[in-house]
Amino acid sequence: MKFIAPSILASDFSNLSKQIRSVEMGGADLIHCDIMDGKFVPNISFGPVIVNAVNQATKLPLDVHLMIEKPDDYLEAFVKAGADSLTVHQEEVVHLHRTISKIKQLGAKAGVALNPSTPLESLSEILHELDHVLIMSVNPGFGGQKFIENSVSKISRLSEMRKKHRLHFLIQVDGGIDSSNIKKVSDSGCDVFIAGSSVFGAENITAAVIELKNLID
Ligand code: DX5
Ligand code: ZN
Repeated sequence: MKFIAPSILASDFSNLSKQIRSVEMGGADLIHCDIMDGKFVPNISFGPVIVNAVNQATKLPLDVHLMIEKPDDYLEAFVKAGADSLTVHQEEVVHLHRTISKIKQLGAKAGVALNPSTPLESLSEILHELDHVLIMSVNPGFGGQKFIENSVSKISRLSEMRKKHRLHFLIQVDGGIDSSNIKKVSDSGCDVFIAGSSVFGAENITAAVIELKNLID
């Protein structure tokens, strides 16, 4: 199964529920919420209040990507706001095992994100505990950046590791995904495609989701 997760970072926030309706009509599977604190990444986005508003506007699962310092302090707030899955960054969390356990105790799915320069091997001792691994295909912090090509081989190597160890976590890709590259990323073994500007920046948002879906089906 392949899943499309539009990232609302690129959406028109003054029309949020309408924009969410548009991606729903295109068959979006998840809504991706990018949380940025101006410290872990050089940009500030939004917090639990907006996640809660998104949760009111859709029945789709909310996939919340925490690009923040000390994510442990906010896990509960995001689950309460409606997060169905939470992703923390390997580069920020010292006691990953503890954080992943906490997320699961809160009843959410747990994943870890890797920046483009962070090796897959840094997750080798925890992979079996994860519901998903998010491969950043841009340096986190902003929407609309160019896809980093090395991510394709990184995803195929992760997919091999998954096969070799008979694991079942999903592989997510985040950053610069559009109709020109989604097929090759899918062929490399990716399951969840996070897309911001190529969806919300399109003239027809619904058609953009349908196009991405068709390319990976
Ligand atoms: C980047 C975020 C992404 C971003 C994707 O820091 O994690 O989710 O919104 O946006 P595009 O698809 O525009 O690269
Ligand atoms: Zn993201």
